[in-house]
Amino acid sequence: MFQVYTHGNLKTCGKQVVARFDREVDFEQFERGDGLHINGILTYQPFDGLAELKVAMAGFMSQVMGEKVSFDPSRMVLTSGATPAIEVLCFCLADHGNALLVPTPYYPGFDRDIRWRTGVDLIPVHCHSSDAFVVDITALDQAFSQARKRGQKMKFFAGSNYGGEEFVSIAEILDEEDPVRDRVHIIYGLSKDLSVPGFRLGVLYSLNENVVAASKKLTRFCSASAPTQSLLVAMLSDAGFIQDYMRTNRERLRKVFRLICDRSKAIWH
Ligand SMILES: Cc1ncc(COP(=O)(O)O)c(C=O)c1O
Repeated sequence: MFQVYTHGNLKTCGKQVVARFDREVDFEQFERGDGLHINGILTYQPFDGLAELKVAMAGFMSQVMGEKVSFDPSRMVLTSGATPAIEVLCFCLADHGNALLVPTPYYPGFDRDIRWRTGVDLIPVHCHSSDAFVVDITALDQAFSQARKRGQKMKFFAGSNYGGEEFVSIAEILDEEDPVRDRVHIIYGLSKDLSVPGFRLGVLYSLNENVVAASKKLTRFCSASAPTQSLLVAMLSDAGFIQDYMRTNRERLRKVFRLICDRSKAIWH
C-alpha cells in the first residue's frame, strides 16, 4: 500500500526529509557532523562536467605532457570515461557505415567501443615492428583507396603511446594558425594516468565548436557523477599529492616496462 506524504506532514511525524525533488534538498541532515559536504553534488550539474574540474583537468593534462601544451577548459567536454568520449566523438564525426582508418597495433577495445552502437567500421592500417610501428603512408593510402572504392567515407583515428623518446602530443603540433586544428580532436582519460578506472572520468578536447556543442548534448547519456567530480577536483588541486603520485607512478611504470622488456628478450633471443 502506497501513501502520499507531504513535506509538512512528514516533519510533523518526526521524519527527516532529505530530498523532495531534484532541486529541493533538506541539507540539515548532511551538514552535521563529519565534514561531508554535499553542496553542489546532490542536484543536477551540467552534463558536460563541472567548470572547476575542467580547469583542474586542463592543468593536470598539461602537467602530464610536461607543461609543453596548454588546454583551454572551455573546449573540454567531460564524460564518464575515455570509452564514452570516443563513442561520442564518433557519433559527432561519422555516420553509420562510415569508416575510421586505425593504425595497428591498436587498443583491442576499439573493435567493441567504436563499432557497437555507432555502426562505424574500423579499417586497420598495418604498421610493423621492423619500422618501430611508425604509421606507413603507403599502407594508409592503400587502405584509403580500397575503402573509397567501396564507397565508404573515412576519418583517420590514431592512438598515441609512450616510448623511450621524448613524448610529443598532437596538441603540441597544432599552433594558432594551423588550418587543420579544428579537425583534430583529443581523447584523454584518468584510468591510466591517475590509475582510477573506477572513477570513470574521460575528456573530449576539441577546437571545433560544432564538435564541442554536439558532444555536450550527448553527455546527457554519459556524464560523470557530481560526487566523483568533486572528489577529483580535490585530488587534482592537491599539488603536492599530484607531484608525488606522478613521480612514483612513472618510476614504477619504468621499472615494470624494463622488467617486461628484459624478460621478453630472454624468451625470444
Ligand atoms: C585507447 C583507450 N581507450 C579507452 C580506454 C578505457 O578508458 P576508460 O576507462 O576511461 O573508459 C583506454 C584505457 O583504459 C585506452 O587506452
